Amino acid sequence: MRLTILGGGGFRVPLVYKALLADPERTVSEVVLHDVDPARLDAIRRVLAALGSLPVRATTDLREALTGAAFVFSAIRVGGLRGRVVDERVALAAGVLGQETVGAGGIAYGLRSVPESLRIAALTAEVAPDAWLINFTNPAGLVTEAMSGLLGDRVIGICDSPTGLIDRVLRALGVTAGEVRVDYAGLNHLGWLYGVHDKTGRDLLPGLLADEKRLQTIEEGRLFDNLRELGAVPNEYLHYYYDPAGTLDAVRSARQTRGAFLLDQQLRCYHEIAAREPLEAWLDAWREREATYMAENRSLTGADEREHDESRPAGYEGVALAVMRALARDEPATLILDVRNWGTLPVLDDDAVVEVPCRVDARGAVPLPVGPLPEHAVGLVRAVKATDRLILSAAATGSREAAVRAMATHPLVGDPALAARLVDAYRAELPELAYLA
Ligand code: G6P
Ligand code: MN
Repeated sequence: MRLTILGGGGFRVPLVYKALLADPERTVSEVVLHDVDPARLDAIRRVLAALGSLPVRATTDLREALTGAAFVFSAIRVGGLRGRVVDERVALAAGVLGQETVGAGGIAYGLRSVPESLRIAALTAEVAPDAWLINFTNPAGLVTEAMSGLLGDRVIGICDSPTGLIDRVLRALGVTAGEVRVDYAGLNHLGWLYGVHDKTGRDLLPGLLADEKRLQTIEEGRLFDNLRELGAVPNEYLHYYYDPAGTLDAVRSARQTRGAFLLDQQLRCYHEIAAREPLEAWLDAWREREATYMAENRSLTGADEREHDESRPAGYEGVALAVMRALARDEPATLILDVRNWGTLPVLDDDAVVEVPCRVDARGAVPLPVGPLPEHAVGLVRAVKATDRLILSAAATGSREAAVRAMATHPLVGDPALAARLVDAYRAELPELAYLA
């Protein structure tokens, strides 16, 4: 089966390739890389060649890349890391959070990602109508919802963050995934784990939440206070909502924004891949990237080093492979994915893409029933979904007004005058937003 990776020159592509090589069944027998940047494509091809021998072809022609694909992974970054830096800088200059997927920065990114993802979805529907599209492109929930208008339930969004969280909590509880049923729900980068039920139906989570010592053994326990009162373990991205002033300060006083750090690192890394041993150059950069992930948030709360265990099946490549295996081999799996709601969370409509446990098999990913969202989560989920809907409307109509409304609707922006200033500043700096008139 052929897998096409859009954003094939991307830094995390070797992780996907490694996962494919480790799959004993070789569900994917051929990889096609597509990217708009031939130099990055070439560099990543060199890294893959050093990793193994699963056939790889690279192209800059999107139609050619999609034709004949059984699976399409979309992992693009419209505007590149330079765009991410603008997303951060413009927001910080206006006094609000500048982050890849959250708040003003995330909205600017969404306004770039959605139009391009719609073009990809339309072309996929035309030349590979039977393909499964697995979406990593951020903001992943929003982009998946945009694509679902054209691809229906053949688009499935993924993120590594819920799997990582659940893996850590289950280890702290001393249980395995097969022994429990979890209540994890919300939107992408806006979810909560609020129940871990054993076979007898008993909820094991309150015991962990009441045990401060055990909580300190997991990243989320160190990142957040008062989890017992909250009755849930929030996704790490909730830190930006629960401590907006602290996280804004921490991002501001860091030497560089995350985007600026990665931009420098990537320029160095791609250069070194071409100049010296490709695999070592890539591995060094990957380890450094992992070690510094969300570093400001962790230093703010005194949470030390990031847990990084390369033997654990975390990472989005693990989730992606699990989805592909379940789809291709009809091997049922339960995974947290971004899919259309279909009544799973009654506080949102059926077409809203939500992040919930799903059963995946050859027929696709179907959301499983989960317990009702905690009351404190409902308002945030509704507000961020309303923002997403306005972003989709801005992208569909090219309306600047809709973009301003999206900014103003987001809980971390809120003020319409500030929202208008932000949209205009982004439009002035990002050529991809020139369509907003
Ligand atoms: C996690 C999130 C991704 C996000 C990435 C950012 O993996 O799930 O959605 O893109 O972190 O990491 P970075 O190293 O680029 O800051
Ligand atoms: Mn993610």
